Amino acid sequence: MKVAVLGFGTVGFGVYEMLKKAKGLEPGPVLVRSGKKDADFKVTSIDEIVNDPTVDAVAEVMGGVEPAYSYAAAALRAGKHFVTSNKALVAAKGPELDAIARERGVAFLFSAACGGGVPFLHNLALARESDEIRSMGGILNGTTNYMLDAMQRLHLDYADVLRDAQRLGYAEADPTADVSGLDALRKIMLASAVAYGTLPTEGLLNEGIESVTAADVAHFQSRGYTCRLIASGGKQDGGVYAYVEPVLLRDGAAECSVLQNFNMARYEGACAGSIVLMGQGAGRWPTASAVLRDLSGILRGEREMFPENVQRGAVDNSLCRHSYYVRLPKALAEKLPAASVEEEGDVARVLTEPMAVSEMHSLAKQMREGGAEVFFAAVRE
Ligand SMILES: NC(=O)c1ccc[n+]([C@@H]2O[C@H](COP(=O)([O-])OP(=O)(O)OC[C@H]3O[C@@H](n4cnc5c(N)ncnc54)[C@H](OP(=O)(O)O)[C@@H]3O)[C@@H](O)[C@H]2O)c1
Repeated sequence: MKVAVLGFGTVGFGVYEMLKKAKGLEPGPVLVRSGKKDADFKVTSIDEIVNDPTVDAVAEVMGGVEPAYSYAAAALRAGKHFVTSNKALVAAKGPELDAIARERGVAFLFSAACGGGVPFLHNLALARESDEIRSMGGILNGTTNYMLDAMQRLHLDYADVLRDAQRLGYAEADPTADVSGLDALRKIMLASAVAYGTLPTEGLLNEGIESVTAADVAHFQSRGYTCRLIASGGKQDGGVYAYVEPVLLRDGAAECSVLQNFNMARYEGACAGSIVLMGQGAGRWPTASAVLRDLSGILRGEREMFPENVQRGAVDNSLCRHSYYVRLPKALAEKLPAASVEEEGDVARVLTEPMAVSEMHSLAKQMREGGAEVFFAAVRE
């Protein structure tokens, strides 16, 4: 199967090199921007790929929604299988691409878009066919895991660990999507769509790690907790939930052993119980290996990752309740259903009674709109 590659950056180079050695696969033309054609195998127009009858499949590793979507739709309509590592594309246009692929009888797969080298979506898609997926999620963003781990183990401040993450190439020059939890949220959106056939677009909540301080970390460390940014999705009382937030876990929980920029994806099947997958969530070779896994899957007859007729829908994050650790100005502590309060100068550290996820996120938003500095993390005993 000849595979054209769109984009020749970090992942694109890896995909191209792996295609040279993969069983049953061979590299085709590679799309680069005009002005960047410095070898015969590179082309500068998508038409040269879409209209090439020798190209059987297209691997998109450029990023962004446009022109990636137009290129993907054109390739699928031309009867070519399509795989991508681009979570932004699948989160924005996945249902449309899935419909075109089914109509044309070709594949639309996107393992690499969630978890890098960790075969999370692939296993979720297999599991939902025979089991009921109760919940899923985990540590799906390596950059923030690297930062929280360094804050905890090296006692560094937020600004220092962010600088280190950028120097090591884990964080982008603009790290907003990682540290705000948006990157992890997009991944749990995809997982939810794979597990339940609903791509959540309304009611989603993401709290990142931007407001955590070295003092917060020292505080919960002294009480035997480790902080991780966790994406959570699942079904409860007939509804679907999906959100991202920092979570305090008791030292010894599986998530605490996920160090540096590693990922850990988890799902729970009604019959299978809890399944944990851990590995490299990003990077050239792990991500390229996930793209190649999809391409090899096509050779074995795999065609889709979403269930048929995947739809956009709303989630309800009032379905889940837990206690929260909240650091906020002392004067605002009374707004929370406190189980215990510790005060230090103008700052209060509150452990709340169990409360709805939606309620905590909404209270923090209101307080911040009023100018308050707030950090919160769910507490998982
Ligand atoms: N890197 C990872 O570890 C990783 C992990 C999981 C998923 N992903 C996803 O994989 C995708 C690629 O990531 P990456 O890290 O490889 O990015 P990258 O290093 O920036 O590579 C993207 C390449 O695509 C090229 N490109 C962009 N738009 C193009 C267009 N319209 N026509 C031709 N070429 C175009 C870029 O060229 P210019 O440089 O000229 O813009 C660049 O060479 C993204 O969707 C990302 O989210 C990456």
